[in-house]
Amino acid sequence: MRVRILGSAAGGGLPQWNCRCANCQAARADSPNVQPRTQSSVAVSADGCAWYLLNVSADVRQQIVRCPDLAPPTQALRGTRIAGCVLTDAEIDHTSGLLQLREGCTFGIFSTAFVHQCLTRYLPIETVLAGFADRPWTEIPLGDAIRLPLPDGDFSGLTIRAFETGRDAARYLPDQTGEAAGAVIGLQIEDFNTGGVLVYAPGLQQLTRSLAEAAQSADGILIDGTFWTDDEPVNMGIGHRTARQMGHIPVSGSEGSLGWLAGLPARHRVYIHMNNTNPMLNNIGPQRQQVTRHGVQVGMDGDVFEL
Ligand code: MLT
Ligand code: MN
Ligand code: ZN
Repeated sequence: MRVRILGSAAGGGLPQWNCRCANCQAARADSPNVQPRTQSSVAVSADGCAWYLLNVSADVRQQIVRCPDLAPPTQALRGTRIAGCVLTDAEIDHTSGLLQLREGCTFGIFSTAFVHQCLTRYLPIETVLAGFADRPWTEIPLGDAIRLPLPDGDFSGLTIRAFETGRDAARYLPDQTGEAAGAVIGLQIEDFNTGGVLVYAPGLQQLTRSLAEAAQSADGILIDGTFWTDDEPVNMGIGHRTARQMGHIPVSGSEGSLGWLAGLPARHRVYIHMNNTNPMLNNIGPQRQQVTRHGVQVGMDGDVFEL
């Protein structure tokens, strides 16, 4: 399986349009220490020809244009190598890019029933897209592996298994929605031929048993690196909720994700979905050194690995 990070930043990207934090200012000034990043998305393929997008960010057009693997195939005037999209939540940063991919072609969208409901009723992406292109929607269960198909129905070579990683619903949902099963999932993706396993979890509220089990046997892990500390959003003055309250376990600290990741056998342990305030985004800062010392990488747009 080929894994390509299309966008490594959380919602807002880096620099974010309205932000003057140290990282955003450095990226704006072309600092060699803080590279610009597009918003959260990954592409996976068993054969290097047909690709599944894991989340579809508002930057998807730029991400596709930049990536020769995702260029339209040569057989026809219009076409795509995108075989489908899997959504891990209903957040705007992970779904609004579907509207950018409206100009024809056929590919499926996969999400939990709850996310499907959000994107039909409250952020009606499915309804809007129906006027433009064929986007058959498949609801995926929690816990059971399913085979991802190619648009013609053949098996793509990839299976996915969804597990819960959080229950906080997106901010645009009505207040009474509360916690919902299937609101935020992680994916265990297996290449049927090579046996390579990827765990992808860009929104991780806490280290759950199902995640720990999936991660133990994974060859590659792409995981929530949104915030360095739990109080970062509050301290930086960008919000009133802590990282955990926003559905993101912090990287550092005794209960953070870094110590846990460091003990896992996976060849590739990579942070993704970094918020632009996260100090580990600075290539020469002490936080980056700490991450690297633990054998973990801070993912970058364009990073590719094979499993
Ligand atoms: C998140 O990851 O918590 C959400 O995408 C936040 C947002 O973009 O509103
Ligand atoms: Mn997000
Ligand atoms: Zn910023």
